[in-house]
Amino acid sequence: MKKRVLSAIQPTGDLHLGNYFGAVQNWVRLQENYDCTFGVVDYHAMTMPYKTKKLRENSWNMIFNLLALDVKPEYLFLQSLVPEHAELCWILSCFCSYGELSRMTQFKDKSQQVKEGQKDSFISAALFSYPVLQAADILIYRADYVPVGKDQEQHLELTRNIATRFNQAVGKEFFELPEPLFTESPKIRSLADPNRKMSKSLGEKHYISVFEEEARLFKKVGSAVTDTGAEQAQGIMSPGVDNLFTLIKAAGHITEHEQLLAVYQDPNQQLSYKDLKEAAKTALGQLIGGFKEKRAEVLSNKKEYKKQIKASSEEIRKRAQDCIKEVKDLAGLSNVRF
Ligand code: TRP
Repeated sequence: MKKRVLSAIQPTGDLHLGNYFGAVQNWVRLQENYDCTFGVVDYHAMTMPYKTKKLRENSWNMIFNLLALDVKPEYLFLQSLVPEHAELCWILSCFCSYGELSRMTQFKDKSQQVKEGQKDSFISAALFSYPVLQAADILIYRADYVPVGKDQEQHLELTRNIATRFNQAVGKEFFELPEPLFTESPKIRSLADPNRKMSKSLGEKHYISVFEEEARLFKKVGSAVTDTGAEQAQGIMSPGVDNLFTLIKAAGHITEHEQLLAVYQDPNQQLSYKDLKEAAKTALGQLIGGFKEKRAEVLSNKKEYKKQIKASSEEIRKRAQDCIKEVKDLAGLSNVRF
């Protein structure tokens, strides 16, 4: 029996290389050896101020993008097509304390962002209780593992606490306690400011879309911040140079990466950053070219893929429904079958 993996992503606009190498590429690899379930979580995307007319479009775009990046349709579901997540969230919120939620650092950060944002927006109750919905996402499929970044560790810990408290209350080891799955994934920095993580919110210059237009890709790589070259002689790799090396390797150009690194490390040679950038352009150009090809195929068969995702969401929903039935029973709620 394969171990179960659950992960999810919010449908917020375009994906960049940081998202790809940090999360999605890992999902694609995990598909080989685990029983995977991946969600595009639109209920989560409502917790921050959002545009109602845009959400559905963003959700489907995210799905098409994930398919173009090789996530298998049979593992993928759209959260609002599995409303049991919201029902389990309510039940679990009764087994989660106000104090626990108040300690979530992501809530503190995001509510700060809302406060600093437009004056007509507000901090929703859902932003506060959002980690309970995340716990429901995970527990409803009895996931063994959740691939997470450091920023989500606290939410996973909370999920385990909620599961333990529920199990104690009902006197049964019903929920499995999910473990984090930390996998090596390259950390990608902004090319324009390599001291910061690649991020969309920093602005156009600071990220490369996984479907970046070639001219823009080359321009962004070409103007990437490096260093004066003096650092090379001293053997201190600056974040900008490190980032270019990381990108070449992450894009699968292993031999080029090794060769360039050998030149960089050779005290008798000076690696030209122009060569380094050329290698990065080639490596990323090929990777992104492949993604764009697949995306064009997906977009020209939108209807078919939509149907497929509706069907897979329905299949996945059956598992969620089985879980909810038992949970309601254990929690003392009524079911139509009683
Ligand atoms: N909260 C996660 C994020 O902001 C997304 C998410 C929602 C998630 N539900 C999940 C991640 C379940 C892992 C498992 O990135």
